[in-house]
Amino acid sequence: MPRKRQPATPAPKARPSALVDTRVVYCGDCLEQLKTLPDGCVDLVYIDPPFNSNRNYEVFWGETKEKRAFEDRHASTQAYIDYMRPRCVELARVLKKTGSFYYHCDWHASHYVRVMLDQIFGENCHLNEIIWRRTNSRTETDQWPRLHDTILVYTGGGDWTFHPTMVEGDITKVPHTLVIGPDGDKYNTKDLTGPGITKAGESGKPWRGFNPTSFGRHWGYSHGQMDEWDRARRIHWPKKKGAAGGFPRLLDDVPFEPKTRAVQIGSVWTDIDRLNQTAKERLGYPTQKPLALLERIIKGSSNPNDIVLDAFCGCGTALVAAQNLGRQWVGIDISPTACRVMAKRLKDVCGMRESEPGHRAKDLRSFIVRDLPWTIEKLKAIPHFEFENWAVIGLGGIPNKVQVGDMGIDGRIFPVGARPSDADAKAGQTASMFAGDWFPIQVKQSERVGRPDIDAFEAVMVREDRQRGFFVAFSYTHDAEQECAAFHKRTGRVIKTITVREILDEQHVQKM
Ligand SMILES: C[S@@+](CC[C@H](N)C(=O)[O-])C[C@H]1O[C@@H](n2cnc3c(N)ncnc32)[C@H](O)[C@@H]1O
Repeated sequence: MPRKRQPATPAPKARPSALVDTRVVYCGDCLEQLKTLPDGCVDLVYIDPPFNSNRNYEVFWGETKEKRAFEDRHASTQAYIDYMRPRCVELARVLKKTGSFYYHCDWHASHYVRVMLDQIFGENCHLNEIIWRRTNSRTETDQWPRLHDTILVYTGGGDWTFHPTMVEGDITKVPHTLVIGPDGDKYNTKDLTGPGITKAGESGKPWRGFNPTSFGRHWGYSHGQMDEWDRARRIHWPKKKGAAGGFPRLLDDVPFEPKTRAVQIGSVWTDIDRLNQTAKERLGYPTQKPLALLERIIKGSSNPNDIVLDAFCGCGTALVAAQNLGRQWVGIDISPTACRVMAKRLKDVCGMRESEPGHRAKDLRSFIVRDLPWTIEKLKAIPHFEFENWAVIGLGGIPNKVQVGDMGIDGRIFPVGARPSDADAKAGQTASMFAGDWFPIQVKQSERVGRPDIDAFEAVMVREDRQRGFFVAFSYTHDAEQECAAFHKRTGRVIKTITVREILDEQHVQKM
């Protein structure tokens, strides 16, 4: 069994890796992209691949009419494992011997994945099975509700980096005798009576209207002593006089303080919630994982400047966490839409700059997206829903969640300053979260869009009572442009026709 690397190496000065370009997002199948990387070049791998479930993970913003190959490819668990095995073999090859590997999955295939990973890395390199409780409640009438994901952890085969994660844990039980004192602080309290009746002296006599004898008890202190405590505001008086349990009680002389000490986080993680509908970091991507989860993994299993690789990186949570924590990173995703969303996120959240395609990411604050279908020809060839997502995101909008029955709207632009109303935010639909302040986008993956398409979009604008809307296509007929002008004259509403070439050349900005 390899051993944990101790002590943690001090943070080296940030420098680019000699082995591999970092701060790069590759668009493509990770199997192909990984083959271009040298052996033993990354320190930490995290993957969260699509599971063998009936959910279609390649869909970016929810349901679509397009069906990608995934459900078919993964028709059975065996097919899923067959699909993942060569990719995991490549990941094991590019992982340093001193590195760690995290595979995020759920009940569908975690048992098969574990067997596969034991075979690839060796049983002795299995470090942990982490249970991440991602939700507290689900209702199932016929089985125990499934509340957790499983994260399998392996070492690359040598000594590995590990930093225990400590949190402040409460080690005292909160006493049930806690009350709010006259100063607003919480106090533990003591009973002023003891069990049993006594006839001797004042201990069996009523005090301030409370008679302990009628409850089979006696005062444990003299009336004088209790008067003194009352003057010092140390007596807690019950709301209802004499009711069971309603005797005056003595406050401690100091407020109650829960005792805490640092406790180590174990393999069951219950303190990180999945992203709820209104979470700030939420982008609307259905399988987006919380940043806190990735930060814990990266902090625990890497050092500053180490290289983190996510080969199924979705909307880039691992990359953002790595960048924020001063690690270098490489991301791969097969979906061009995911890559564009990631690029936007790295710019918006991490304040990074995107370098020109064909160049290297120049400095620690710049990144590059490689192998995107940047040409008109490639954009004509990608699936329609990917094209729609590309165009809407290119305009700075949010693609429609539902592409079936989208009522002629493929996406919406929310002007800067638009804010969700509380009720809408609670309802949780991104598109309806902004109080009426949005512009519709219509996308056609075709050349020479003509007047009938513009007519249909005009109907949408009137129906939705929008003053401004955007149409994206490869080109437009003269009739289409004339109809937009006529519509403006008739109604005062504006339709901006944008071409794909304008988005590629970033010329569309002037029209926005
Ligand atoms: C479950 S999501 C990852 C979500 C990610 N952890 C996050 O927080 O955003 C899986 C991603 O894997 C991508 N994917 C599927 N097959 C792939 C492949 N062969 N190579 C690279 N990426 C792939 C999908 O496009 C999808 O974005």
